[in-house]
Amino acid sequence: MTDQLTPQEMNAASTSTAPTDHRRPADFEPVGVEPHYPPPSGAIDPDQSLGWVRRMYPVLRAHRTGAIVAAVAGLFSVLANNLVPLTIKDAIDEALDARTAGLNGFVVWLCILGIVLFVSRLTYRYLLFRTAYSIETDLRNQIYNHLTRLSFSYYDRTPSGEVISRANSDIRSIQLLMAFGPLTVLMLVSFVMAFSLMLTLHVGLTLLTVATMPFVFLTAQHLRGQLYPLMWLTQARTAELATVVDENINGTRVVKSFAAEQTELTKLARSAQRLRWSSVATMDTRARHNPIIEALPRIALALVLLYGGLLAIDGDITVGTIVAFSTYVVIISTPFRMVGFVLVQAQRAAASAERIYEIFDTEPDIVDAPDAVHLSEVRGAVSFENVRFTYPAADATGQRPEVLHDFSLDIEPGETVAIVGRTGSGKSTVVRLLPRFYDVDAGAVRIDGHDVRDLTLTSVRHHVGMVLDEPFLFSTSVRDNIAFGRPNASDAEVVAAAKAAQAHDFISELTEGYDTVVGERGYTLSGGQRQRIALARTLLENPTVLVLDDATSAIDVQVEEKIHQALRALTEHRTTLIIAHRLSTIALADRVVLLADGRVVASGTHAELLATEPRYAAVLATTDDAEPTEEGAQ
Ligand SMILES: Nc1ncnc2c1ncn2[C@@H]1O[C@H](COP(=O)(O)OP(=O)(O)OP(=O)(O)O)[C@@H](O)[C@H]1O
Ligand SMILES: [Mg+2]
Repeated sequence: MTDQLTPQEMNAASTSTAPTDHRRPADFEPVGVEPHYPPPSGAIDPDQSLGWVRRMYPVLRAHRTGAIVAAVAGLFSVLANNLVPLTIKDAIDEALDARTAGLNGFVVWLCILGIVLFVSRLTYRYLLFRTAYSIETDLRNQIYNHLTRLSFSYYDRTPSGEVISRANSDIRSIQLLMAFGPLTVLMLVSFVMAFSLMLTLHVGLTLLTVATMPFVFLTAQHLRGQLYPLMWLTQARTAELATVVDENINGTRVVKSFAAEQTELTKLARSAQRLRWSSVATMDTRARHNPIIEALPRIALALVLLYGGLLAIDGDITVGTIVAFSTYVVIISTPFRMVGFVLVQAQRAAASAERIYEIFDTEPDIVDAPDAVHLSEVRGAVSFENVRFTYPAADATGQRPEVLHDFSLDIEPGETVAIVGRTGSGKSTVVRLLPRFYDVDAGAVRIDGHDVRDLTLTSVRHHVGMVLDEPFLFSTSVRDNIAFGRPNASDAEVVAAAKAAQAHDFISELTEGYDTVVGERGYTLSGGQRQRIALARTLLENPTVLVLDDATSAIDVQVEEKIHQALRALTEHRTTLIIAHRLSTIALADRVVLLADGRVVASGTHAELLATEPRYAAVLATTDDAEPTEEGAQ
């Protein structure tokens, strides 16, 4: 094979400090890309006994400068806004009616108020929303940060849709409160100010004006009472429709292969119809309430004109006062419309915060021990000692059966061992314990005699390379996919890894070679091509312990044969664990162990087991394409 690489070549290609020894260099190179966002300046308070706002306080405090400036600007705008009606009143009374003052002064004053209003509104709105969005960004970064630390068991038990929804809509609902909460407080300040200024003008007229406001509030509340169930319904139905669309797009290959398009279209149409109903009902409710909410201040206006007019005729108040009141009516009605909205939003934000805190309060099960050491010099001896293991999450039947009962297996450095067993016997489970995807319940998993729980996670996971049967590729270029574990790898290293995985030839034939962007999850490639890229991705990391979990199942036998030759060279000084159903793959191993009932029931070469162990022959006979070939017997 011209393509195949010896481990020495792999090492020389993959590390600048090529060791004279054939084993790995002493240290490892973690992916080590620093996060590009600045770390959040305040973190959620871990004390669970505090209220939700109190727990968020450190995050809020980090943005206090913007919030304080926004508050000051807001107060200026409220003040300017409330002075406008008074100025108009004085202009009418003094310049137009009594003619005791010139008009120009009032015009200039109004212009100044207008400019103050413009500048202060712009400032506080911009700062307020900027602060709210900054808080949203901080929370989002912190959530993703925490999510990346959580262990496999969390993702086993939490549906991904739920995690995504928490990270998106729940944060959005907190952001809404952060923006509209202070805005409403400002409106209330504005109301108090307007109310006081009106009282200085005429007490009776003030009380009459304010008397209609509770009706604004009540109508707005009534509207909300009817609206919220509808809005929840609309939201749920939008999500439902999104699921149908999502499944049809992601599952389009299944849909088409069953020619089930019409059934799916019907399903989609029904879902769209349900969404239409709730959307229309929402608009209907709004349409019936909003005119009332808008009309009520006009009724107040009519009352002002009626009662104020009578007062003016009697000479108790001036015409300017009536005009001032008509403007104040508009100013004071806004907070009554908004208070209810913000109260409900506060409830939603509180519920959202609880859901978000649930993520923060979930501690990762698998963490570095306080005195964990880096695994650097590795020979590659792997041993499982009387391992017992039960998954933290219930399996598909809702039970938690013990998967491994007393699993013991010693693997020499450089040995290639195949694990064979019936489907569901726990083969994948065994290898998941090696890089600490899960921790054992009893017993120990050791690499070179070190319990993996005494080592740092990053170093263990660096030295243990896993290739799974369903390779997940990212929607980037082939090169970036291969270099996923070592973004700084040179092109030569990437090509060397691809050659070893027998992927170089087909990659070179792609339109843009290594720069070809693979479609979502790599669907523009065949299953076998995806597996070879995933294999190259792991080989580039040059792990001391290589785990292939059904990793070549989609690759045809001829190509697999080539990979075997390359791997044989590569696995010579590398501990390799192979899980496979094909005899041709199993034949690659120095030793085969048979896994049944959660323990190793037989161990030996393929030929020995075939001759002496009826259960082994039985397992092979049940696997898909297992004809006892001459290949298998070697
Ligand atoms: N994440 C999980 N949470 C709970 N139970 C699980 C989980 N993964 C696997 N199991 C259960 O553990 C048992 C062993 O599964 P495992 O995946 O190790 O089998 P396997 O030998 O690799 O099978 P296959 O040959 O089909 O890949 C099965 O009964 C399975 O239902
Ligand atoms: Mg498996």
